[in-house]
Amino acid sequence: MLDKIKKLHSEITSLKINTRQELESYRLKYLSKKGIISSLFEEFRNIPNTIKKETGQRLNELKQTAQAKFDSLKSSLNTSEETRRDVDTTKPSYSFVSGSRHPISIVRREIIDIFSRIGFIVSEGPEIEDDDHVFTKLNFAPEHPARDMQDTFYISRISAEDSNPGDILLRTHTSSVQVRVMQSMKPPIRTISPGRVFRNEAISARAHCIFHQVEGLYIDENVSFSDLKQTLYYFAHELFGKETRIRFRPSYFPFTEPSAEMDLSCLICGGKGCKVCKNTGWLEVLGCGMVHPNVLEACSIDSRKYTGFAFGMGIERAAMLKYQINDLRLYFENDLRFLSQFKSAI
Ligand code: DAH
Repeated sequence: MLDKIKKLHSEITSLKINTRQELESYRLKYLSKKGIISSLFEEFRNIPNTIKKETGQRLNELKQTAQAKFDSLKSSLNTSEETRRDVDTTKPSYSFVSGSRHPISIVRREIIDIFSRIGFIVSEGPEIEDDDHVFTKLNFAPEHPARDMQDTFYISRISAEDSNPGDILLRTHTSSVQVRVMQSMKPPIRTISPGRVFRNEAISARAHCIFHQVEGLYIDENVSFSDLKQTLYYFAHELFGKETRIRFRPSYFPFTEPSAEMDLSCLICGGKGCKVCKNTGWLEVLGCGMVHPNVLEACSIDSRKYTGFAFGMGIERAAMLKYQINDLRLYFENDLRFLSQFKSAI
C-alpha cells in the first residue's frame, strides 16, 4: 500500500490542469467520496497494525497534497476566467470630468506670466493693513475722501473723527504693497502684486465689495513715462491680442504725477463704436503714472536719484473685457454653467 501511495503522490504532483473541466475530473478521480483517496482509506482499515502508523501518515499527506492542489487551482482558474469574461478591452474608457480654473485665476496667472517674461517678480502684502500703508505714505491728504467710512472697511479706528496712521482697515487697493516693497527693497525694483481688495460698496453688476487688483511698480535710475507706455503696450498686446490699440488720458491719483488712465480699443467693435464701448470705441482698463516724489521719500528712496512708474488694474475688469462678461456677480456665484466655460493653458 505504501508503494501505491507513493506512486499516486507523484502522479498528483506532476499532473497538469488547465481548465475548470479538467479540475472537476481531477476532483472526481481523486478527492470525491468514490475517488481513489477515499478507497485507500477503506483499504487502510484492514492493513496489519505493524504498518498502520506509517501508512496512515503517508495517506494523510497524500490527501493534503491533493486537496491543496485542488484549492489553489480552483482560485487561480476562477480569477483568470472571470477576468477574461468581465473585461472588455475594446470598450471606451469612462470619461473623466476635470475641473477648470476660475476665470479670475486664469487672468491673474496670465498677467503674472506676461510680466515675469520682462523681469517683474511677484510680491504680496497683507489684506488687513494700516492707514499708513494704504493712504498716508501714498500721499493721500488727511481729509482725502477715499479714507471715508463709505469706501473703507475699518477694523479699528484710533480716533472717530480724524484718520490716523495707526488705523487698521481692509486694504482698498493693492498700491499698499508698493509701499511695503519700497520699504524692504532697494532699487532697481520691478514687481507686480496681485491680491484681493475691499471696498464698502453695494453689490451690483458693476461693483462688488471684494475684488482683485494687480499693482505694478518699476523703480530705477532714469525711468521715464515712455518706459511706462512701452511696458503697458506690450502687456495689452499679450493679454488682449496683437490688434489692440491703447491710448492714455490724463488723470489724477495722489501717489503718481503725472497720472494717466489707459484705454483699449474696443475688443468687440475694434474701435468703430458699439453698445459695449458706449459708442466711444474705447474701454477703460487701468490707472498708472510716475511715482510721486513724496511717495519715494516717504519710503526712504532718494527721489533725486530714482524715478519710477506704477500702475494698477482690476482683474475682474480685465477678465470682463477679455471674455466679454457683463456682470461682476457671475464671478462670485460659483455657477458651474458659467465657470466650466473657461479653459486655460496655464
Ligand atoms: N490704486 C488705484 C485704484 O485702486 C489704481 C492705481 C492707479 C494704481 C494708478 C497705481 C497707479 O499704481 O499708478 O484705483
